[in-house]
Amino acid sequence: MNLEKVINDKNTNLLKRIDKQKVPEHVAIIMDGNGRWATKKGLPRSFGHNKGVNVLKEILKASKKLGCKVLTVYAFSTENWTRPTKEVDFLINLFNEVLRNEIKEIHQESIRIKFIGDLTPFPENLKNTIYSSESLTKNNKNFLLNVCVNYGGRQEIVKVAKELALKSSSGEIKPSEVNEELFNSELLTRGIKDPELLIRTSGEKRISNFLLWQLAYSEIYISEVLWPDFNEHEFLKAVIDYQSRNRRFGGIESLPNESFKDSRCSS
Ligand code: IPE
Ligand code: IPE
Ligand code: MG
Repeated sequence: MNLEKVINDKNTNLLKRIDKQKVPEHVAIIMDGNGRWATKKGLPRSFGHNKGVNVLKEILKASKKLGCKVLTVYAFSTENWTRPTKEVDFLINLFNEVLRNEIKEIHQESIRIKFIGDLTPFPENLKNTIYSSESLTKNNKNFLLNVCVNYGGRQEIVKVAKELALKSSSGEIKPSEVNEELFNSELLTRGIKDPELLIRTSGEKRISNFLLWQLAYSEIYISEVLWPDFNEHEFLKAVIDYQSRNRRFGGIESLPNESFKDSRCSS
């Protein structure tokens, strides 16, 4: 039997289990495990990063097809600079090459691409590729792809705090006006709804400085699969799992009022 057909049939079966009315609008992904994937195969870590790019393309298509509106991926953290220079340089060149090769198709698909993070330390050629792809796609309305590069959640929060402190000292705002809404409006993700679902691959159970503010109430799905082996099937499994969650936001499932009794009172 044709392998592609088997995969398609498996995905169709999963798709049938998805409630189209409850598809997460915004999915965030920590794409982790590239290095381990390559090392397991006796290959240099760079092979894992290369393979990871194809997976991102597959998941971008899959999430758009499913009806998601925003995908935010963690591509390079503020802490990833501590890796050997050779790996960092490889990743920087890979970002540039992939973006140059893919931007035409991204634009044709009416996808807007945005980079989130401090771009200052990146080389000019990468910065130029980033700026031109953001500008080319800025009016695309179908889907938003956020790529977090040199991004750190703590750094983002400190930046917002600094910004608000400056506005306050210049008299533009009063300290008493600082609230969640104002804070939100200074975040790098301003205007974008918080992710309903966070997926992390490779089995690691931590956030690693990703979207600390925005993930406050996201559902977390840990996949044991290493990012280069992740695919549409695994993505659909994550969405099905998300749809089975009971999102309470600190409340309780709706119960009739009289079902609450103060346990200190005699019944
Ligand atoms: C994720 O894979 C990609 C980046 C952080 C750039 P890793 O490179 O972290 O792979 P592992 O976790 O070492 O296997
Ligand atoms: C998180 O993965 C960063 C990205 C996926 C870009 P890391 O591999 O850097 O995280 P840790 O070191 O396992 O926490
Ligand atoms: Mg890792």
